[in-house]
Amino acid sequence: MKSSIGIGLIGTGYMGKCHALAWTGVKAVFGDGPRPSLVHLADVTGDIARQKADEFGFAKATGDWRELIADPEVEVVSVTTPNAFHAEMAIAALEAGKHVWCEKPMAVSLADAERMAAAARASGRVAILGYNYIQNPLIRQIGTILAEGTIGTVNHVRLEMDEDFMADPEALFYWKSEASSGYGALDDFGVHPLSLLQVLFGRPTRVLAHLSKPYADRPTADGTRRAVETFDIASVLLDLGNGISGVMALDRSAWGRKGRIALQIFGSKGTIVFDQERMNELQLYVSTGKSTEQGFRTILAAPQHAPYDRFIPAPGHGLGFNDLKLIECHELLKRIAGEPARVIDFDTGLGIERTVHAMAQSHREQRWIDLA
Ligand SMILES: NC(=O)c1ccc[n+]([C@@H]2O[C@H](COP(=O)([O-])OP(=O)(O)OC[C@H]3O[C@@H](n4cnc5c(N)ncnc54)[C@H](O)[C@@H]3O)[C@@H](O)[C@H]2O)c1
Repeated sequence: MKSSIGIGLIGTGYMGKCHALAWTGVKAVFGDGPRPSLVHLADVTGDIARQKADEFGFAKATGDWRELIADPEVEVVSVTTPNAFHAEMAIAALEAGKHVWCEKPMAVSLADAERMAAAARASGRVAILGYNYIQNPLIRQIGTILAEGTIGTVNHVRLEMDEDFMADPEALFYWKSEASSGYGALDDFGVHPLSLLQVLFGRPTRVLAHLSKPYADRPTADGTRRAVETFDIASVLLDLGNGISGVMALDRSAWGRKGRIALQIFGSKGTIVFDQERMNELQLYVSTGKSTEQGFRTILAAPQHAPYDRFIPAPGHGLGFNDLKLIECHELLKRIAGEPARVIDFDTGLGIERTVHAMAQSHREQRWIDLA
């Protein structure tokens, strides 16, 4: 086992900081594996990079991400830039022999996602995507409840993801409104519930989708208005195979919803309900026992739900969003060490991308698309 591993970080916004916190804390929380050495940080200018390198504790800073990738001390590259850069940066890093931890969605186009998966295969390096929600100890617990048959045979799954950062019609046009960022809610949001589906049930076999735009245009910083190119709302029917039907509803313009990723799983003997806005609790209904005393019960996250115990010894105190990223970071290090790990690698991620693009095709052609 190596005692340290060299880290490069590209991008220092929302996700860049989240990756930096994960790299900083992973050894302290889990105690095992190599100690991350924060080697090199890149952002759009040298000035921003130097400021963020100082804040996050990276030794070197650059305004040119290719310098970071050429750095022999960097062994793993975190790609946390906007979607349009993922393919170019991840492929360059893999070709330079680095492991890659790339934010979701994998890429804007399916062709780029395919090139990324091929580059990962050819490199023999580890390449994973930022599907942090699968790391929640309670999502793991849902997997256990399903495997133990507690709710019987699953017949229907409902997934929702809603936030309100695009709800204001006068919110400024930015990169997420540009077609170069992707379809909109479908790839920005849909990939997250699809990652949960992936670990709990696998890929859908058929999809039927409808995409919509709540607002046709938005104001720009220079005082003009620009036509919105992405779809902030998506409604999708899913066939999950094995007699399981599903529905996925996504909305980036849903006033009042701040980080909702809701999951309802209905079975022959009970129901499981989870919502990321209350990420430390899970509702379970089981249809056995006295009918007069039946009802949903709340299960609070606790040390029994590994790896909660690595953060806090007390039940019910709660993990946070950044902790999910830290668990993901630990799973990445396990995969790099050749151990079994709960990650969505580029090959599995390509499956999620294919599903998303099939949904967009379904919207365009107004018909079910087969994925089998
Ligand atoms: N896993 C999650 O839960 C989650 C949550 C939010 C965003 N994301 C994903 O993370 C990615 C980044 O989103 P964000 O919200 O952090 O964006 P952001 O705008 O907050 O940060 C992007 C960063 O990339 C930098 N950057 C842009 N172009 C660059 C270039 N050419 N070279 C170097 N740096 C460059 C920007 O300066 C900025 O620091 C997106 O792909 C997004 O979909 C994932």
